[in-house]
Amino acid sequence: MPAASTETARSVATMRRRLARQFSEAGLDTPDLDARVLVGHALALDHAALAAQADRRLSDREAAAVAALAQRRLGREPVARIVGAKEFWGLPLTLNAETLVPRPETETVVEAALAALGEDRGQALRIADLDTGSGALLLALLSELPAAQGVGTDISLSALGCARSNAAALGVENRASFVACDHGSALGGGFDLVVANPPYVASAAIAGLQPEVRNFDPRRALDGGPDGLLAYRAIAGDARRILARHGLLVLELGAGELEAVTALAAEAGLIPGPCRRDLGGLPRALAVKVST
Ligand SMILES: C[S@@+](CC[C@H](N)C(=O)[O-])C[C@H]1O[C@@H](n2cnc3c(N)ncnc32)[C@H](O)[C@@H]1O
Repeated sequence: MPAASTETARSVATMRRRLARQFSEAGLDTPDLDARVLVGHALALDHAALAAQADRRLSDREAAAVAALAQRRLGREPVARIVGAKEFWGLPLTLNAETLVPRPETETVVEAALAALGEDRGQALRIADLDTGSGALLLALLSELPAAQGVGTDISLSALGCARSNAAALGVENRASFVACDHGSALGGGFDLVVANPPYVASAAIAGLQPEVRNFDPRRALDGGPDGLLAYRAIAGDARRILARHGLLVLELGAGELEAVTALAAEAGLIPGPCRRDLGGLPRALAVKVST
């Protein structure tokens, strides 16, 4: 039965299982999921089609495409970077080489902002998302705040291009604009809500991050300077100028940064408010006001 066994060895299901085993042996965190997504991506099959075609034999070209993606994953490239997309707040976002892969814990910033806005959610709010990357925070907020308008800033033109095309794909291009500048430096004042997930890893700590992060996320999306607080200093120092008097700033925090960022905000004349924890229980989103 050599022909049949060759057939089996090249079926969609067999390839998935083989990849999952290789990924597991390589110590990857989610081998089955990674194998499913990468086989589906290589073959342009969604979850249901993968199941329906489980016994289909792969062509040589398809097998080579799957193997090439598997090699990239074994080189610790994140699945989101390989497929060029990641879901954030239930929104499909595309990525490029200059955008951070949006993280689930960043959704805590959206939760904190929405909780603080309370009944003002229907107002024509003006939002700024500093250091917007793929546009994740701004686009999540615009999806929840139907009358709001927003601007995203970034130092990377390529990231801004990605954010702009994500806004168009989500149909909110008329409510979103994008500006290249240092944090909020090119913005005027009067924003009701400013959010930021700035680079916050201390430079020397980057070498100790997981390979998926240190080798594939853009360095300037991670590097927060010698103590990790460089961007927070700039943003806190400029916040009173950018925010309306009743305005709210919500900052994502890196691990162990709550105390230092709270102190920076207070030094800048801001009023630190509640800090929301992420699903892992870590303080993740600090809300700060201009006045009580
Ligand atoms: C941690 S990533 C966050 C991206 C996105 N907001 C998210 O949550 O997925 C930080 C972003 O800040 C940008 N950045 C770094 N330095 C900056 C600066 N001085 N001014 C504006 N953006 C900056 C990077 O290009 C990157 O897109």
